[in-house]
Amino acid sequence: MGKLNNKTVFITGASAGIGKACAVSFAEEGANLILSARRKEKLDALSENIKSKYGVKVYSFELDVRNSEKVKEKILSLPDEWKQIDILINNAGLAKGFSKINDGDIEDWEAMIDTNIKGLLYVTRYILPLMIERKEGHVINLGSIAGHQVYPYGNVYCATKFAVNSLSEAIRMDTLENNIRVTNIAPGLVKTEFSEVRFNGDNERAENVYKGIEPLTGEDIADLVLFAATRKSHVNINEIVVTPTAQASATQVFRKE
Ligand SMILES: NC(=O)c1ccc[n+]([C@@H]2O[C@H](COP(=O)([O-])OP(=O)(O)OC[C@H]3O[C@@H](n4cnc5c(N)ncnc54)[C@H](OP(=O)(O)O)[C@@H]3O)[C@@H](O)[C@H]2O)c1
Repeated sequence: MGKLNNKTVFITGASAGIGKACAVSFAEEGANLILSARRKEKLDALSENIKSKYGVKVYSFELDVRNSEKVKEKILSLPDEWKQIDILINNAGLAKGFSKINDGDIEDWEAMIDTNIKGLLYVTRYILPLMIERKEGHVINLGSIAGHQVYPYGNVYCATKFAVNSLSEAIRMDTLENNIRVTNIAPGLVKTEFSEVRFNGDNERAENVYKGIEPLTGEDIADLVLFAATRKSHVNINEIVVTPTAQASATQVFRKE
C-alpha cells in the first residue's frame, strides 16, 4: 500500500530533471499522474515506463505553460476522473543566459519571466479552484536558493525565483480558509538538464557548474517533495531549502581540485 494510493498529482515540466524524478517517486507511492511538458515524446516514454513498473494511471499531454489559453483549455477539459487533483507540482522552469543586465538578452528574460512566473500563475489559476471546491489540495512550487540570494549574472533568473517565493506565500494566504497546503522547494545546485538549457547546449560550460562537487540530483529533490506531500494533513511544510553539502550559499561552493 503506497502512501499516495488513489491520489492524483499534476506535474509541469515532467519530461526531465526534477519533474521526471518526482513522477517516478510519486508513482512509487501509488499516485496517479498527470504529466505535462513541451517534449511529448519524452513524456510518452516516461508514461509507459511508469505505468508498466508501478501499475498507476498516467495521463500526459504536451503543454507549454507560457500559453495561457492552452493551459486553460487543457485544465478545463480534463476528463472527470482526472479533475480531482490532490497535489500540483509547479516545476516547469528554466534559466537562460548568464550576463549583466546591460548585456542581457531580452528574449532570454522573456523566456524566464513567461515560464517561471507567468506559467506558474496560469497553471495555478486553473487548478486552484478545483482544489478550493473540494477544500483539499497541496501546491508545491519549485523555487530556488536563487529566490533568497541574488548571485552575480543571475539577475533575471533570481528575480523570477524571488517571485516564486512570494507567490508561494501569497497562495498560502489566499487559500488559508480552504485547507490548501502550499510548499516552496528551494534547491541549490541540482545536476539536471538545467545548465545545458541555460548555456544553450554548451556541455563543457554546463559540466563546469558541477565541477569538483557532488551536486544534488533530481531524485534528491523528488525525495523532499514527496516528504512534504506525505505529512499528516494538518502539517504544512512552508519551505524546504536544500543545497549540496559543498554549497554554503548561492555564491559559495567548495570545489575539490
Ligand atoms: N537544477 C538546478 O540547479 C535547480 C536549482 C533550483 C531550482 N531549480 C528549478 O527546478 C525546476 C526544474 O528544473 P530542472 O533542474 O529539473 O531542469 P531541467 O532538467 O531542464 O527540466 C526542466 C523541465 O521544465 C520543462 N519546461 C521548461 N520550459 C517549459 C515550458 N515553457 N512549458 C512546460 N514545461 C517547460 C522542461 O520540459 P520541456 O523542455 O519538455 O518543455 C523540463 O521538463 C525549475 O523550475 C528550476 O528553476 C533547478
